[in-house]
Amino acid sequence: MNLLPNLRRLVQNLVTQRTLKTSSISLSENLFVHRDSAEDNPDIKFEFNEENKKRADAILSIYPEGHKRAAMIPLLDLAQRQHGWLPISAMHKVAEILDLPKMRVYEVATFYTMFMRKPTGKYHVQVCTTTPCWLRGSDEVLSCCKSELGIGVGETSKDGMFTLSEVECLGACVNAPMIQVNDDYYEDLTPETTRKILNELKASKKPPPGPQNGRFAAEPKGDFTSLKSEPPGPGFKMQDL
Ligand code: FES
Repeated sequence: MNLLPNLRRLVQNLVTQRTLKTSSISLSENLFVHRDSAEDNPDIKFEFNEENKKRADAILSIYPEGHKRAAMIPLLDLAQRQHGWLPISAMHKVAEILDLPKMRVYEVATFYTMFMRKPTGKYHVQVCTTTPCWLRGSDEVLSCCKSELGIGVGETSKDGMFTLSEVECLGACVNAPMIQVNDDYYEDLTPETTRKILNELKASKKPPPGPQNGRFAAEPKGDFTSLKSEPPGPGFKMQDL
């Protein structure tokens, strides 16, 4: 018996009769399976360069014998930093170094969105659109990135300079809205400051990272509002015996 029509009818009834609400479906722009392509296939060899071989040895030396597999994420990160993104041959290299089945490496590389498994621009612009950033204007920041860079989410500019991603909370909510460009956070953004940052990057300059509204870190924007006087000593507000 084909259950699908019944199931569909049931869902339709639920939606129409009980005003069932669902949040909007947001799909990742990444493909989680590997497809061989001209620039990413197992026949293209990957080797760590001499400098990174030393770094890889230093990373491996941190982990005791029998636990070397814990070096997987640092090694994948090292490979990505060398290549600009993470091709399948680099995953194979890491599997070879750690003496693990390739599948164990694929599992990690496909799980973490920090690993870019397709060619990525020189500047990877990641726009946080999770609730605190969204409430503070991340929609405008994202639109500004799209229009300034001329690309959509998940795309790379033709000159290979920029890749745009939409990401979940990057842990800087107190300075929302924010974007991450490569290793740097740019925070307390408006469309104007976002545009300025992107234009400086286009001109191969490095805009100073951090809050863009004059704050030094995450302190109140105006004067301090609390903890302005000496804190009361021990016994404060205790009842007399
Ligand atoms: S919600 Fe954007 S950094 Fe946390």
